[in-house]
Amino acid sequence: MIRVTLVQLLLLYAVAFHHTTRRISRYPLHLGSSPEALPDSIMTLSRFMIESTRSNPDHADLESLMSSIQIACKAIATNVVSKAGIVTLDGQEHYASSSSSSRSSSSSSSSSSGDGSLSHADAGQAIFDRANSVLKSALRFTGKLGVLSGSTAGDNNSKSNNNHPMLIEEAWNSKYVAVFDPLDGSDNIDAGISTGTIFGIFTEAEECLVDFGEDVSDSARQCLLQTLQPGVNLVAAGYCLYSSSTVLMLSFGAGVHGFTLDPSIGEFILTHPNVKIPSRGRYYSVNEANQHKWSNNLQDYFQDIKRGRGELGASYTARYIGSLVADIHRTLLYGGIFAYPADSKRPKGKLNLLHEVGPLAFLLEQAGGGASTGYGRILEIVPKALDEKTGCFLGSKDDVKEVEKYLAR
Ligand code: F6P
Repeated sequence: MIRVTLVQLLLLYAVAFHHTTRRISRYPLHLGSSPEALPDSIMTLSRFMIESTRSNPDHADLESLMSSIQIACKAIATNVVSKAGIVTLDGQEHYASSSSSSRSSSSSSSSSSGDGSLSHADAGQAIFDRANSVLKSALRFTGKLGVLSGSTAGDNNSKSNNNHPMLIEEAWNSKYVAVFDPLDGSDNIDAGISTGTIFGIFTEAEECLVDFGEDVSDSARQCLLQTLQPGVNLVAAGYCLYSSSTVLMLSFGAGVHGFTLDPSIGEFILTHPNVKIPSRGRYYSVNEANQHKWSNNLQDYFQDIKRGRGELGASYTARYIGSLVADIHRTLLYGGIFAYPADSKRPKGKLNLLHEVGPLAFLLEQAGGGASTGYGRILEIVPKALDEKTGCFLGSKDDVKEVEKYLAR
């Protein structure tokens, strides 16, 4: 039996108190309920944007775009993602113990199981659609918006999220065009898995206005395609992670900064200034079920790092959530490598270049990391199609270089 003396209890209390005060001293929470009451030492995302615009007036348009994005992230975190499992396809709240009438309303609009509960895929789609409309409403302030439905052409994986629309936003009188993945990872949301919104902002190469609120016509689609450029041209990119906390990571091309949503005041607070990814890590993150479809060189790489036979000389350990933003966030903070490589079944990989891999590659490079197809820099790929896919290796610089060396053998 374990006996705990009073002295031991006091010691435990002292250690816990010490950790609590250390955490609090990084970001004091003794604030009023209104953001105006924030002391100057607390950097909110809005303040950060104002200061960044002051030192770089070119960022003025970005400020309004970022303000819409942060509103959307807050709304998705608090009104959409946190309601996963209790909201049905038709927007009604659904409780397992609720009356049969609420169940029948859900079953009428979905391919639900006999008991009225949503299927795995429908639950993800319902939440995705809500996130999508939240983002659209938030962006409405900035100007015109196009909704592009991702094509499934060339991808024979029916379970992928390629039918999910991608938003393309183009602000009135603004020189920017933005691409979004409204809720990546939503396919698994009914299992409580973290999800994220990804965004990338380009300077517009050519004027190409799209009718607001309408799906994009073929000619507008062609026009938009011309405005889309390689990732090196991104002026800003980032993601919102919806998890145990809501984190917004972003870069305007001069480093990466991370903001955590403080739900008590509804503000994103700068918690991760100037994030730098370690030059090497010990985590690898890949769907190993695809191993038999990889090239021999790629199989050798993963075998070697697992067994401590790689350049690091120590064994790597696996971490794979299967939700892109969550896997990238961990990789950015702890280092290591995330991979969704091209394979024999998907010679172009699975992930979308424009609204998934490109913005994340930009962020990782800005944090001092690497982003490669395995054969070249992702940010240099000139997109030929809106639904273009690419294989990718994203993470610590030395880890990404190492996998490139294996693939070049
Ligand atoms: O693109 C959708 C997505 O769910 C990503 O969030 C994730 O990284 C990837 O697909 C997971 O794919 P798989 O289930 O094939 O490992």
